[in-house]
Amino acid sequence: MIPDEFQKANFENYKCEEEVQQQMMSLTKQYLNEFSIETAEDGRKKKVIPSQNFGLIASFGEQRLKEMPVGERAEMKWKHNNFGIGKTHLQVALAKQLLKKGFQVLIVSDAVFIDDLMQAKRAGDEGEQLNRLLGPALEADVLIWDDIGKSKWTEARETMYYRIINERYRKQMPIVFNSNEDRGTLADKIGYAAASRLIGQCSDEQYRFLLDAEGQDWRLKRSV
Ligand SMILES: Nc1ncnc2c1ncn2[C@@H]1O[C@H](COP(=O)(O)OP(=O)(O)O)[C@@H](O)[C@H]1O
Ligand SMILES: [Mg+2]
Repeated sequence: MIPDEFQKANFENYKCEEEVQQQMMSLTKQYLNEFSIETAEDGRKKKVIPSQNFGLIASFGEQRLKEMPVGERAEMKWKHNNFGIGKTHLQVALAKQLLKKGFQVLIVSDAVFIDDLMQAKRAGDEGEQLNRLLGPALEADVLIWDDIGKSKWTEARETMYYRIINERYRKQMPIVFNSNEDRGTLADKIGYAAASRLIGQCSDEQYRFLLDAEGQDWRLKRSV
């Protein structure tokens, strides 16, 4: 469920040396505070779950970078790096806290999840495999979608993104996501209808749980 690299990820070992790290961490914790378990008068427990989504995305997406002339790409990539800044780390830390409080959390990794869904769709078993994958993704209290928009666009994939995002949107059930794409390129990757619901649902009158983040790659930083 939780990839090896993140077994130990938590809020305590996330270092805040730069402003962007501080912003990412406080927004993640602020989102966590939206969840609670209330006890009703009859003693029954009730889960309080926000309807808002929470996203950590890029300010200059991968797809945009790929479309730049080769000569300008390296500098832009350096300037607007979004890799290894701890998006997954923080959202895994969030997942652990939510699980501890008693919420059902499902973490999916875009590339694997989309591949599995496409394969299940082709299984020719009247949707049995597909429903087995979709069920938990549609019903978990919180769906954490790591690296959304990583997969290459196809029409079938766009339909799948829409189906899941729209279904959770209709039920006002939150999606926590992170991406190396920005608002514009994410829409190119997952489709406009899905992206507008996903991103639109991050804000209400009071809060905005969406951050375009860029900074230094932690993995590279430690190796120099
Ligand atoms: N501020 C930080 N403090 C501690 N570890 C970090 C920090 N940022 C990233 N890491 C670690 O660096 C690695 C890359 O982070 P990751 O969350 O995968 O980045 P992203 O999802 O943004 O690409 C992970 O092992 C993560 O635990
Ligand atoms: Mg990541």
